[in-house]
Amino acid sequence: MQSILVTGGLGYIGSITITELYKAIGKYYKIIILDNLSNSNIQVLDTITSIIGEKLDLYIVDIQNQTELKEVFKKYKETNPINYIIHFAALKAVGESVENPIKYYQNNVVGTLNLLNCAEEYKCQNFLFSSSATVYAPGEFVDEEAPFKPSNPYGETKVVIEYLIRSLSKKGGRYLCLRYFNPVGATKDGKLGEMPNKPNNLFPYIEQVAIGNLQQLYVFGNDYNTHDGTGIRDYIHILDLAEAHVVALQELIKRDEKKENYYDYFNIGTGKGFSVLDIVNEYSKLVPIKYQITDKRAGDVAILVANPNKTKEKLGWVAKRGLTEMCQDSYNFIKSKQ
Ligand code: NAD
Ligand code: WQD
Repeated sequence: MQSILVTGGLGYIGSITITELYKAIGKYYKIIILDNLSNSNIQVLDTITSIIGEKLDLYIVDIQNQTELKEVFKKYKETNPINYIIHFAALKAVGESVENPIKYYQNNVVGTLNLLNCAEEYKCQNFLFSSSATVYAPGEFVDEEAPFKPSNPYGETKVVIEYLIRSLSKKGGRYLCLRYFNPVGATKDGKLGEMPNKPNNLFPYIEQVAIGNLQQLYVFGNDYNTHDGTGIRDYIHILDLAEAHVVALQELIKRDEKKENYYDYFNIGTGKGFSVLDIVNEYSKLVPIKYQITDKRAGDVAILVANPNKTKEKLGWVAKRGLTEMCQDSYNFIKSKQ
């Protein structure tokens, strides 16, 4: 049996993707988790175990440590060689990346270099990378050929890694970059979702207001050129995002079996934009969300929404879940954590 290595597999997107991946192909592949716990908790492994009914192998390893990384590849070489990598591990706080660019380049870029180095040494040539909509300039219905224009060091690390992957792909192998828009929500059972130490993003902040831990939401600006003046984003349900990974990995598997070279990059979004007040209004159907308009947040843009057509045409994936479900699952999750 071959293995799939999931870096950052205890994080928000990684953990939920693992449960979906296990349901889809867990019978045929061994799933190995690697995480340094810098933004996650070891208990997430127990939650994954309770959902899938099997305890997966976990390595508490930092991808910046090439020696330890190699040990993981070596360990499985003879029995369950690592033939696929889903690479989630990264730091992702935009503000912190502005404060400390070196930390972000070190963790994200150097860490990915190490990982790709090990992959090359152990002849693993199937790589699925978590990129981000933050590689683009703002816009409506942004397609994959839009130029890279990241506005912060975090986004720059994604661009650098995408360039690296593009260059590597020319030597052969199979590489996919998925550019996620704004993932939100949680699993239906409320067991897995996002629990940041300090909420910066909209949904985690609203969740804290919803359960009374914070008094009100501060809406960052209401004079953008949008229907209600507040910022518009393409929110995508985390389960849709997890399913996109299953589809993308299956594409890599198919191409690997045929020994075809492959390189592509896809938007993972819904193609529909919602403003901050649209979200507040939808969420308020479940629980009142008090808010106050305040100054714009530095670096924010008016609109960023995906054109999801290429992903639909070439991968056959479309998001199925709407805003109501995103809010319901988010609220269900945070209530269950109280
Ligand atoms: P997360 O912080 O919940 O998960 C990332 C995981 O990687 C964490 O468990 C963390 O401990 C681990 N990690 C970080 N650095 C590591 C290192 N050096 N070695 C080993 N493990 C390390 O974040 P997430 O929201 O699940 O994001 C997953 C990926 O998706 C990231 O690459 C992120 O940049 C990307 N992404 C996220 C979003 C979003 O809004 N959540 C949007 C676009 C792209
Ligand atoms: C959404 C909207 C805010 C909080 C970030 C990263 C991006 C990607 C996804 C990883 C904006 C408004 C927010 C609040 C508010 N991550 N808002 N009050 O900024 O679109 O994207 O996460 O790749 O790189 O930048 O997401 O959830 O922070 O903001 O009014 O307390 O909500 O102004 O319009 P963003 P967000």
